Amino acid sequence: MQRRTLFKTAAGLMFGSAVSAPVFAAEPEFVPPTAKKPMLLCFNENPLGLSDDAKKAINEATSRASRYPFAQVAALKKDLAEYMDAQPDNIMPSHGSAEAIRASVEAYNVPGKTVFICPELTYSDGADVAKRNHIPIKTVKMGKNWSMDLAAMRKLATAEAKHKHVIVYIVNPNNPTSTIVDSKALFDWIKSKPKNTFFILDEAYAEFVNDPAFKSCAELVREGYNNLVVLKTFSKIFAMAGLRLGFAFGTKQVIDNVRDHVAYDVMMNQATIAAAMAELKDKDFIAKSKAMNDESRKILTDALDELHIPYLPSETNFVFIDLKAPLKPFVERMKAEHILVGRPFPPATQWCRISLGTPAEMKYFVKKLKEFRQKNYI
Ligand SMILES: Cc1ncc(COP(=O)(O)O)c(C=O)c1O
Repeated sequence: MQRRTLFKTAAGLMFGSAVSAPVFAAEPEFVPPTAKKPMLLCFNENPLGLSDDAKKAINEATSRASRYPFAQVAALKKDLAEYMDAQPDNIMPSHGSAEAIRASVEAYNVPGKTVFICPELTYSDGADVAKRNHIPIKTVKMGKNWSMDLAAMRKLATAEAKHKHVIVYIVNPNNPTSTIVDSKALFDWIKSKPKNTFFILDEAYAEFVNDPAFKSCAELVREGYNNLVVLKTFSKIFAMAGLRLGFAFGTKQVIDNVRDHVAYDVMMNQATIAAAMAELKDKDFIAKSKAMNDESRKILTDALDELHIPYLPSETNFVFIDLKAPLKPFVERMKAEHILVGRPFPPATQWCRISLGTPAEMKYFVKKLKEFRQKNYI
């Protein structure tokens, strides 16, 4: 059976049509990790690799490598707008979402008068940009089970906004916790249009979510709110971390402002554009990536249950597990097995973020976890 047919089969299974072929026959062949080629359970990437269509599109794009990509960026923006159910004016492509995070923070920084607010346990890029721009950072303690305490964040932001401009950075689902925030509290807060307050919603992992309680803030952009930007990336489910593409999604007013803080938004890489446009069309690949992620997560969480290792509910392509012991020895022992797991995320010093690999990789990882238990390492 062709790889392409298998992708279709996977999608068919997801959407309930009567097909019986194996779902994951097209996953990369499993090779036990070595020092030279360790298993990467540390960067939240898509372990399937780029789709075949995207690889073909990159090949074709080489014929345009000597040309500026104006027409191709315009076409990409159109496709991204369609993906977001909006208009090209609502989109600013960026070199990874990292660039969109930087540009958004800088666009809404009023020098000397801005405060950056985020939860204490979240992805650090926003705060790193704030630091580089000499913006004071105020972090808010997490709630129960490392949840985002939106009430406390709102209280702090309200107090600060009396005298300052406030940038609120929210990653939803959050990294490293993998949990979603309370949609009602978040929507109520943004919709209240608090004065002097701008929200950056980083939704890098939204495509992996299963919980129906999750609501993308893209909806608020479509409703015309000018006090937020939603940031997306092609590094996660779209499997393009090495090709560097993300985008900002906002009202035209917001996007025009953010665009002033990048060198060009009409100058993306031809290969990257081609791959992204192919992936956007390849619904089977996205469905397969999602189904595989769900399968890998189940392999891991079943083992964690069996070993009585607590973990937070995962809505992304990683799981945050409670080692109940310092992280460093676990990381080093896994490294000795040629498996790279997540870095420290203070203040959750006894927790480890495990990025989900292929099902075969997760089975191998689970085998190592069980060996660790036998050796009393965990
Ligand atoms: C929440 C979040 N935002 C943004 C990024 C950066 O992604 P990109 O590769 O698009 O720069 C990551 C990467 O891990 C992330 O976890």
